[in-house]
Amino acid sequence: MYTLIDGKATAAQIHAELSMEVQNRLNQGLRRPHLAAVLVGHDGASQTYVNNKILACERVGFRSTLIKRESTIREAELLELVRSLNHDQELDGFIVQLPLPGHINAERINEAIDPAKDVDGFHAINLGRMLLNLPGYLPATPAGVIELLRRYNIETEGKNCVILGRSHIVGSPLSVLLARSATPGNCTVTLCHSKTQNLMEHIQRADILVAALGKPGFVRGEWIKKGAVVVDVGTTRVPDASRASGYKLMGDVDFESVAPHCSAITPVPGGVGPMTISMLLRNTLDSANQRHYGG
Ligand code: GUN
Repeated sequence: MYTLIDGKATAAQIHAELSMEVQNRLNQGLRRPHLAAVLVGHDGASQTYVNNKILACERVGFRSTLIKRESTIREAELLELVRSLNHDQELDGFIVQLPLPGHINAERINEAIDPAKDVDGFHAINLGRMLLNLPGYLPATPAGVIELLRRYNIETEGKNCVILGRSHIVGSPLSVLLARSATPGNCTVTLCHSKTQNLMEHIQRADILVAALGKPGFVRGEWIKKGAVVVDVGTTRVPDASRASGYKLMGDVDFESVAPHCSAITPVPGGVGPMTISMLLRNTLDSANQRHYGG
């Protein structure tokens, strides 16, 4: 029998911890942590993610601000907005929800964010600091995966970890976090991508398999090493007429066939997804406490 790694319950536990820390701040006469989210356009998934982030802020006692802009916004205007948020003394951190419309250079926007307010951990300074094991904001989804492994006491040292997908926001940073000298960490990491040859052979050697490709149901049970730990980061909306929303969320892992081979596995939904928001809130509270960048 496998352990179901319950991200929803773990996130709820973390939110309770964060609420207590907020209360301690208020008792000391300090203000509530304050997160702003910038949403450009009307992409349904992005709207849901941002709304969930704002709701989570309210639940743990943070202040939050939602800033909406039309998808026709010019890059210069968005850069101006980022600069004004950088200088807003009442704001501890902010995020610009991705993806951005095609006419906007997302890298330029990302690099304009003050690293001390980059609670997504996407800025080159924060990613570089992560690589050097210096204090900084860790990207929320990779940090969420690490936190799940920590809280479920999953042994990582010396294990073969195979990551599917080399995105800047999940696969690449997670490969660094799992390989570094830390607990969880000390894995031997293989980072697989679209040009990887003999993918199945890599997957068959994985003690820990992380799927972050965005291909629903891609990973099949017959590829899984017996007793492996499988972490599914995929969250693709697939049309489903039987649901009121018209879609269902699907992970990259075919849960039914994979789970019986595992010692532990994350579900979709309710696995890594809720942890992303928890880690974003953690980063925002760290910013309010000036944990990484001082005053
Ligand atoms: N789009 C998908 N995931 C994320 C995230 O974690 N942060 C931002 N800003 N955009 C995203």
